[in-house]
Amino acid sequence: MSNMTTSSPATTDQLIRYGGEFPDFLIEHAAGCWLTAEDGRRILDFTSGQMCATLGHGHPAILDAMREAGDRVVHLFSGFLSRDVTELARELMALLPAPLTRAMFLSTGAEANEAALRLAKLHTEGHEVLAFAGSWHGMTGGAASSTYSAGRRGYGPGMPGTMALPTPNPYRCPIAHCRERCDMTCLDAGMALADAQSVGAPAAVIAEPILSAGGIVPLPDGYLARLQEHCRERGMLLVLDEAQTALGRVGAMFAFERHGVVPDLLTLSKTLGGGLPLSATVTTDAIEQDAAEKGFLHFTSHVSDPLPAAVGRAVLQTVIAEGLPDRAAALGARLRAGLEELQRRHEPIGDVRGEGLMLGVDLVSDRETRAPDQPYGTAVTERCLQLGLNVNVVKFPGLGSVLRIAPPLTIAPEEIDLGLEILDRALRDCAAP
Ligand SMILES: Cc1ncc(COP(=O)(O)O)c(C=O)c1O
Repeated sequence: MSNMTTSSPATTDQLIRYGGEFPDFLIEHAAGCWLTAEDGRRILDFTSGQMCATLGHGHPAILDAMREAGDRVVHLFSGFLSRDVTELARELMALLPAPLTRAMFLSTGAEANEAALRLAKLHTEGHEVLAFAGSWHGMTGGAASSTYSAGRRGYGPGMPGTMALPTPNPYRCPIAHCRERCDMTCLDAGMALADAQSVGAPAAVIAEPILSAGGIVPLPDGYLARLQEHCRERGMLLVLDEAQTALGRVGAMFAFERHGVVPDLLTLSKTLGGGLPLSATVTTDAIEQDAAEKGFLHFTSHVSDPLPAAVGRAVLQTVIAEGLPDRAAALGARLRAGLEELQRRHEPIGDVRGEGLMLGVDLVSDRETRAPDQPYGTAVTERCLQLGLNVNVVKFPGLGSVLRIAPPLTIAPEEIDLGLEILDRALRDCAAP
């Protein structure tokens, strides 16, 4: 049987359910911001796939890069390099400030974080790693140990030395102290708590500049600088995980730019491959040199693979050529204005926050107490999907019930308006009578 497609009803009985139940349709085609299912329904993609397709689906630059790289070389012995890998490193460094000068290329976000944490441990000779209580850094051992927003129960112990820091969410202060403006008491208290637990082996703090799975929480002004001071005082390295925020989404090339802080290690993933598995761990000459002298090993089957590197180059070139950071800022302002207008008419929208085209809509059952309305969040996303719009809801205990809205940066203004119209209708359809 050579025919790969079939019109018979799909069965998922042979698949492991890795994140709840599967939807009752199969996607056959994706182009730009639109998905088309086998049954013909069309869905506007406000999640950019899994937050990777910032250029939209099927961007010609990515498809050309794949074809051309396929004709040259797809995969190599992990110790060999190709021109696309050395050029991608050079092109990436041209976008980054000193002293970030060295990169390695892997496949997933979790892998890039593993490499960053292993470098931090080798360099500092410590093993203690702090991450936010609302964090998501990936599903592999080290990254999962520093992922506190989900997936902790039932899998045995995390890595020794991993500790959580309060998530500085001014809308839902983790220590019930501030309202609207974070004064960073949660950071000082969190570091003091970590000091009390420390066995004297600090290695790193890993942080997302905008927590995504944690409910779209941009780090407050001044927070990263203060966090870096805390790191320096303790000999810890600061690792920033820009899986979702890098390469334009927040209205700048990198989210850390607005904080005036350069991390010791930076990880990029999702957006770097634009939908293909490509990630990067970036660090300084000094850390790289020390790690190399200590015999740093991070040898994976797909490290430095040529084809994804060629795609990464095409993504960087397109982000620059199409001015996507500025586009995200302008279209983000339009989307945000639309969401704020919905907030005026829909009582359950407690807060609208985020940067550029990475926005969150916090749904509450009471605007005063800010109690998260999780059933409403689920109902609204289900209704949106029926109406042809894919939006996520992040709803873990204590983090709220937050619609995560992050369309491709290539989206047309009219598509943003259409998404807002569908959301408006879903919010209305699901509201309590
Ligand atoms: C901020 C962040 N870091 C890391 C990861 C893990 O990336 P991956 O799923 O590619 O391993 C994710 C995935 O959602 C993420 O959101």
